[in-house]
Amino acid sequence: MKSEMLKALNEHYAIGAFNFVNLEMLKAIIDASKETNSPTICSVSEGALKYMGEKECIAMFNACKNNANVYLHLDHGKNLDLIKRMVDLGFDSVMIDASDKPFDENVKLTKEICEYAHRKNVFVEAELGTLAGVEDDVHSEISKYTNPNEAKIFVEETGCDSLAVAIGTSHGAYKFKGESKLNFEILSEIEKTIPNTPLVLHGASSVPQEYVEIINKFGGNVQGAKGVDENTLYEACHQHNICKINTDTDLRIVFTGAVRKYLVENPKEFDIRKYLGNAKEEVTKYLIEKINLFGKINN
Ligand code: G3H
Ligand code: 13P
Ligand code: ZN
Repeated sequence: MKSEMLKALNEHYAIGAFNFVNLEMLKAIIDASKETNSPTICSVSEGALKYMGEKECIAMFNACKNNANVYLHLDHGKNLDLIKRMVDLGFDSVMIDASDKPFDENVKLTKEICEYAHRKNVFVEAELGTLAGVEDDVHSEISKYTNPNEAKIFVEETGCDSLAVAIGTSHGAYKFKGESKLNFEILSEIEKTIPNTPLVLHGASSVPQEYVEIINKFGGNVQGAKGVDENTLYEACHQHNICKINTDTDLRIVFTGAVRKYLVENPKEFDIRKYLGNAKEEVTKYLIEKINLFGKINN
């Protein structure tokens, strides 16, 4: 994981990190990784672990992985005991997210996890700054950009392997009321203070309107959803040091739209393998495009 992230930093591309909550989502991510021949990160949140079961999740990942170049990553770890347990159970990478705590406490907690995880060769992502947005276990009303000078002190003191930065993204489907814009000036400043640290962009779903329309056309009601423009994502990973791009909401949208459409178009069908299998294929197609957008150009 560390060498993959440093390679992405040196060669200016990003590894896609996609969240899964079940077998279909996990298989979609692994199939897309194999199809594109690209390293890919399979992320699970604390909420997803609760849903799947910790041991079940890891067993499923190990069983599905085969020879694919995929990594199992804990997303937004908040509970120190849980993070350490995931290190012990064999995760490739963990995120300690103490970004809602005061700076000194964030440093202390992150350092504790780094020392624990590095003993077992597990990669550690930390976060500085605050993303706005609401998800199951990830909640903040306001956003606060990452301070470039604090970032330098933070990385030096904690020894974290990568840093998630707040530059204007937010979690969920409702990211912008007006124009989709990120603060690349702050990102450039961060890159000057910590040039050797791979950076991570959370809240990076582009919320593709054609998929939102499928949800709405087939009985859903999702209004005013807006994500990060794909040209902006392209700039973030190919012209800056963003080496890992997190996407969850888009997968939920594509999957849900595909299930709705399938059931409406096939009203007599009740074999769950048919509509979940179809949705999995739609997510795989979407992921292949995303990985190609983030990935090594001319790979
Ligand atoms: O950034 C957080 C992920 O999208 C996970 O969300 O806590 O609803 O599983 P979740
Ligand atoms: P989205 O809600 O934009 O997909 O962000 C996901 C994320 O940051 C997971 O950590
Ligand atoms: Zn996130």
